[in-house]
Amino acid sequence: MRLGILGTASTARFFFGQRAENCEIVAVASRDRERAHRVADAYGIPNRFGSYDELLADPSIDAVYIPLPHHLHCEYAVRAARCGKHVLVEKPAALCTREIESMLTACREGGVMCMEALMYRFKRIHARVRELVGAGEFGPLQYVDFNWCFPIRLLRRSSFRLDSRLGGGALMDVGVYGVDFLRFLTGAEPVLRSAFIHRDRPEGVDLFAHVVCGLGEVVGTITCGYTADANYYVVAGERGSVIVPGSVSGRMVENTASFHVVDQDSRHEERFPRENPYIKVLEYFAACVARGVAPEPGLENSLHNIGFLEMVFREAVAI
Ligand SMILES: NC(=O)c1ccc[n+]([C@@H]2O[C@H](COP(=O)([O-])OP(=O)(O)OC[C@H]3O[C@@H](n4cnc5c(N)ncnc54)[C@H](OP(=O)(O)O)[C@@H]3O)[C@@H](O)[C@H]2O)c1
Repeated sequence: MRLGILGTASTARFFFGQRAENCEIVAVASRDRERAHRVADAYGIPNRFGSYDELLADPSIDAVYIPLPHHLHCEYAVRAARCGKHVLVEKPAALCTREIESMLTACREGGVMCMEALMYRFKRIHARVRELVGAGEFGPLQYVDFNWCFPIRLLRRSSFRLDSRLGGGALMDVGVYGVDFLRFLTGAEPVLRSAFIHRDRPEGVDLFAHVVCGLGEVVGTITCGYTADANYYVVAGERGSVIVPGSVSGRMVENTASFHVVDQDSRHEERFPRENPYIKVLEYFAACVARGVAPEPGLENSLHNIGFLEMVFREAVAI
């Protein structure tokens, strides 16, 4: 698969300069032609474009990766599909269910595939936790407590996250992982019970949010934000629990999960070697395109995630 990248996002560095087995990064586009040249030269990418539409018009490109500010995901996914390109779009797939529906329509009409790059699903540690939950290792699940908060001002992350016109805000940025993770782990659809959102001004983005939901018999909580520093999740059942520091972060470091099973009186840690989940997503997507098989999770999954977040925004209490 011949892939083009829209924009020069910092997230794309996990792709630039990496080798995927079945996919070649052949082009990068930037709003700034000079920047496109700089990035292409730095990473040995043969083609570079001074606008996203120029890249989309190149018939030699099979697929695009879209790591743009959130308000542009739908627009460029639809444009790419209309140009006959398969689409790997960063999270959140779009800002509302109406946008995702238009992406589904464009992809169906264009005969192309689209997948949201939920890279954590490709990390062994989370697959292992899900496997143990499914095998009943922790007994009937009681709760899943998902946390992803980082101090945005200290980390100097890009400004689109703090701009509501660009689809910023913690729920769309990292809360979306929480919703997807709860659904991935339990296989159930969340029912909203309560939600709290803090904004620094009425028209500003959500800087912090706390959400409580039910997933069948399981209680799920999602805490996400830009004003605290806490990254971990806890999965707890009647017989035991697991704590995963780092939550579902894509950081390429060794991961450790701490397991505790009560009636075996056992506590142990499992270590998971460093891996690049971004390249795994890319290789999986390219394999789906090559075989003509719809990728999992597809956009229907994104529709569930964003549908739930829409409800959170509607029902949340301001704090
Ligand atoms: N999977 C993960 O682990 C992970 C981690 C971080 C972020 N993400 C996701 O990846 C995407 C990009 O995030 P990022 O932090 O990498 O973004 P970033 O570094 O700020 O880059 C965004 C890029 O979008 C382009 N752009 C177009 N219009 C823009 C505008 N109005 N303002 C700012 N940039 C604009 C810019 O490229 P040009 O100017 O060169 O065109 C810019 O380099 C988001 O969807 C984010 O949620 C995923």
